[in-house]
Amino acid sequence: MQKNITMQDIDEIVAEIRSKVDTKPRVGMILGSGLSDFAESVENAVSIPFGDLPHWPVSTVKGHAGRLVIGQIEGQEVFVLQGRIHFYEGYTMSQVTLPVRVMQRLGVEMMIVTNAAGGIADEHQPGDVMLITDHINFPGLIGNSPLHGPNLDEFGPRFPDMTQAYDPELLDLARKIAKDKAVPIHEGVYMGLSGPSFETPAELRFLKMIGADSVGMSTVTEVSVARHGGIRVLGLSGISNKAHTELSFVASHEDVLEAGKQIVPKMETIIRGVLRAI
Ligand code: HPA
Repeated sequence: MQKNITMQDIDEIVAEIRSKVDTKPRVGMILGSGLSDFAESVENAVSIPFGDLPHWPVSTVKGHAGRLVIGQIEGQEVFVLQGRIHFYEGYTMSQVTLPVRVMQRLGVEMMIVTNAAGGIADEHQPGDVMLITDHINFPGLIGNSPLHGPNLDEFGPRFPDMTQAYDPELLDLARKIAKDKAVPIHEGVYMGLSGPSFETPAELRFLKMIGADSVGMSTVTEVSVARHGGIRVLGLSGISNKAHTELSFVASHEDVLEAGKQIVPKMETIIRGVLRAI
């Protein structure tokens, strides 16, 4: 059923989670395509399949396991989404971002969000990692914002600031860890689209022209909602394919999952370093 999520829905989910696990997570994590194995390293893990929670949209995409994993990594209480929900699956933006609202209600202060993305910048190669310094929320700009509809005043203002969507201190920390651990990284602007079709060459030329470095079908809506509720965000793109503008090119979902395997150890080093340092 298509709908806008209400405070009551959110609180029913929070009550259900609290009935299963006594947690006060500080860090929320959203693990995208190919990256979800990281959730296996959560200690003292309590797992809750998305399907066991009321109102929770269930992911239909291969590679998105679809459960909450609550426990500790590097001594931090974490609330991990193993698999995420995408707009192209047919859910509303409000449903897609429900997990972020639940994080906010549970007291999460910081969110680490990862995605698989196409590399638009010339230097991006499959298997690379890009720190997200800013984003373009294309669906939001044309009227499909997750904040469309009545403002949930309990979380934040009607017109939230987005000038520092990706937290400058967390970015500095991630840069330092990458340098210390010799993990090569790019930095750049992530372009969020609705999908599910990949981009045409003309669309990619356009995206490059307006300043996008990587492109994908997630993240921007989650980050908009996180910032609305005051959560600090660290975002990482794993480059699963080059987004070619000239040659005929097919990016299969299997390619996306395969490059994820090279990306995971790099992201894991950065994420563990951040969790240790905060
Ligand atoms: N385009 C859009 N989304 C993506 C891509 C891409 O090339 N690769 C992985 N997710």
